[in-house]
Amino acid sequence: MNTWRNLPGKALVSLLALDPRLRARGERAAAVLSPEEKRLFSGMDRYDRAHSLAVASRLRDDPLLYRAALLHDCGKLTEELDLKVRWVYTFLEVFAPRLLSRVAARVEREAHGQDVLERMRSLTPGWRRGIYVQLHHGEVAAALLERAGSDVELVRLVRDHQREPRDERARRLREMDDAL
Ligand SMILES: [Fe+2]
Ligand SMILES: [Fe+2]
Repeated sequence: MNTWRNLPGKALVSLLALDPRLRARGERAAAVLSPEEKRLFSGMDRYDRAHSLAVASRLRDDPLLYRAALLHDCGKLTEELDLKVRWVYTFLEVFAPRLLSRVAARVEREAHGQDVLERMRSLTPGWRRGIYVQLHHGEVAAALLERAGSDVELVRLVRDHQREPRDERARRLREMDDAL
């Protein structure tokens, strides 16, 4: 997704993230989640919670999609992906996409393990691990939700939210995710 195209959406989410009622709004919305899913939701960064709430609020007509929207970015683990890495990632994405591809390829080569969490943990904490988490946050989220016993369809939607949509639900999630 071209970051410039959804600047109005990002500006709106930035404002929502500043709202002092964000926590209360999040708690109300998260009432539909299981205790473990709730923990993953509230562990998210303030901006990601505001973004997820905005996406979910536009998908209320489908309860499963609503829950998937609340949780789709819970793989952007705050302890692994600090603000600095997020800014560097966005900067490279916009101004130096080829350099970002090279950095991503290098991180992919260095990561090893059976699954996405093992590969993430095989990297030294810091920018390498942060870039890996940003690149694979859908799969990281899906692995955590699977472990939490979440619905299979919800896990699928979250895992694939950065990929080309394969059905109507995935398409709707992608559309709102890209817009906000
Ligand atoms: Fe995402
Ligand atoms: Fe998102």
